[in-house]
Amino acid sequence: MCGIVGYIGAREAQSVLLQGLEKLEYRGYDSAGIAVYDGSVIRVKKRLGRLSNLEEQLNGHGLPGSVGIGHTRWATHGRPSDENAHPHEDCSGHFVVVHNGIIENYRMLREQLRREGHRFRSETDSEVVAHLIESLYDGDLLGTVLKAANRLRGAYALVVMSVREPDRLVAVRKHSPLVVGLGEGENFIASDIPALLSYTRRVYVLDEGEVADVTASRVACYRLDGTGVDKQVLEVTWDMAAAEKAGYEHFMLKEIYEQPKAIADTLTGRLAEDNRAVLPELGWDEDTARQIDRIHIIACGTAYHAGMVGRQILERLTRIPVEVEVASEYRYREPVYTENTLVIAVSQSGETADTLAALREAKSRGRRVLAITNVVGSSVAREADDVVITQAGPEIAVASTKAYTTQLVAFYLFACYLARLRGSADPEAIRGILEAVRGLPEAVSKVLDTAPAMKQFARRFAWKESAFFIGRGLDYVAALEGALKLKEISYIHAEAYAAGELKHGTLALIAEGVPVIALATQDHLYEKTVSNIKEVKARDAYVLALTWAGDGEMATVADEVLYLPRTNPWVAPVVVAVPLQLLAYYAAVERGNDVDKPRNLAKSVTVE
Ligand code: AGP
Repeated sequence: MCGIVGYIGAREAQSVLLQGLEKLEYRGYDSAGIAVYDGSVIRVKKRLGRLSNLEEQLNGHGLPGSVGIGHTRWATHGRPSDENAHPHEDCSGHFVVVHNGIIENYRMLREQLRREGHRFRSETDSEVVAHLIESLYDGDLLGTVLKAANRLRGAYALVVMSVREPDRLVAVRKHSPLVVGLGEGENFIASDIPALLSYTRRVYVLDEGEVADVTASRVACYRLDGTGVDKQVLEVTWDMAAAEKAGYEHFMLKEIYEQPKAIADTLTGRLAEDNRAVLPELGWDEDTARQIDRIHIIACGTAYHAGMVGRQILERLTRIPVEVEVASEYRYREPVYTENTLVIAVSQSGETADTLAALREAKSRGRRVLAITNVVGSSVAREADDVVITQAGPEIAVASTKAYTTQLVAFYLFACYLARLRGSADPEAIRGILEAVRGLPEAVSKVLDTAPAMKQFARRFAWKESAFFIGRGLDYVAALEGALKLKEISYIHAEAYAAGELKHGTLALIAEGVPVIALATQDHLYEKTVSNIKEVKARDAYVLALTWAGDGEMATVADEVLYLPRTNPWVAPVVVAVPLQLLAYYAAVERGNDVDKPRNLAKSVTVE
């Protein structure tokens, strides 16, 4: 996730900007840059890679001046590179911007501006903002930024500086956070409070659709329609570590709670108002879609579970046979391809060695590869033919949460997109699924309310030796992911079973008090699952069942029931994932484990 810092005052802006950006490094980024006004022009330096690369470049060639803006970029549009790094300039170098978020209508604006003669230097959506301001500028920077902001669609935070009015910075918040730090004869801007804490604890938190006009001696705030706003000063009392985690005890918990936003961001620009999945990054035609006669999905760990959900939805909607395999097996198996097999590689980091090797195997055999990844410019993204980027933002905890649920969203979108192009499913069925997908940010927000119940259950359950997760159909996949999460961070032995398979062996392990987490969200399999719950209850297991709110039967069968806000069963794996993540989290906390960095595991597995 990108970071923004701005400074105006009497200090050397460069060091304030670099220090501020350092405090935002924990959010993850792939490039960094700063712009400083030196009394006559704005000088910009930006570099691919760590902040230290930029610092090296500035060593001995620093940017003097006391007004500036800085940025750390997490690529969304355009690969990570020096050119795509922020700040971005207009043609004249008079207007310089940093931007977080996504400008949805940038293609249209870019085309218009190009026709007017503007020359673009990067592949980003952000650069259009600098050119748009250049084209609209009428001697009033604040008014021009307001006009420009009203022409931008999407979720973004912006800070603009200009040689024409070098004594001010103008900042805009639209669905992407920004705060203004208040000093004496100096002021600060940042996308997150940690960047300001070394200088001030007095801040204005900009609300949705607010604009700040910031000079060294005053800060004035407005709404996007230009009317003034009176802001209350917030006194920050947290320390640095808490601020980085936004008040959450662990990154994992923060990331669990970020899921409604991560899902909404992944849907941005990909779901038309009439509930059609549009994936502009693919731009496939009907022939391309119709040619595909087989799909192989390759991934590891949690991403493999996303692929298992993907298989069910793809087969249902496209009728194409789909195989899913863990990449470490696939790469050595000499898989059999048809002429038009599409290979889908799923990887949060885009750097997992086994997934990359499996992708290369498919490429070397001439297959088309589509990547679903969270990291623009990662190896998987670069080597694939087509890429669908999930917009989860950086995931810091080793246990994957928001990356997983956004991978599921990417699969729903892709399956509906492919089915529409192939004409392989009833348009009403597709619309129904996409309507539920559109409702996921809200459904996930509601299901987060199960946290106290999961915490309580986890306290009682945390010292059990083992646990079983059961379900049928999509619930079986959700069970696999629930068990993996629990093992990974709580170190409790956990197994997931297709509920119908229990009696073929595993039932022997069920004894008095053994915890069984039973998932029952698939309406057409509900009665079968209830029978399987009865099987384990007959062996005195302790059953926590997860099913839809409104159910009347489960409470008579299971020991405890957690009710979920009802939605279309096809999207249940997203909804169910949340309480299972919370269960694993609270069990790990209860056991005193290092939740964000579990033993023996790494975030990105770049070795075989
Ligand atoms: C999930 O919680 C794990 N940390 C792990 O299974 C992970 O999903 C797997 O290593 C794949 O990583 P990737 O998505 O970055 O390729």
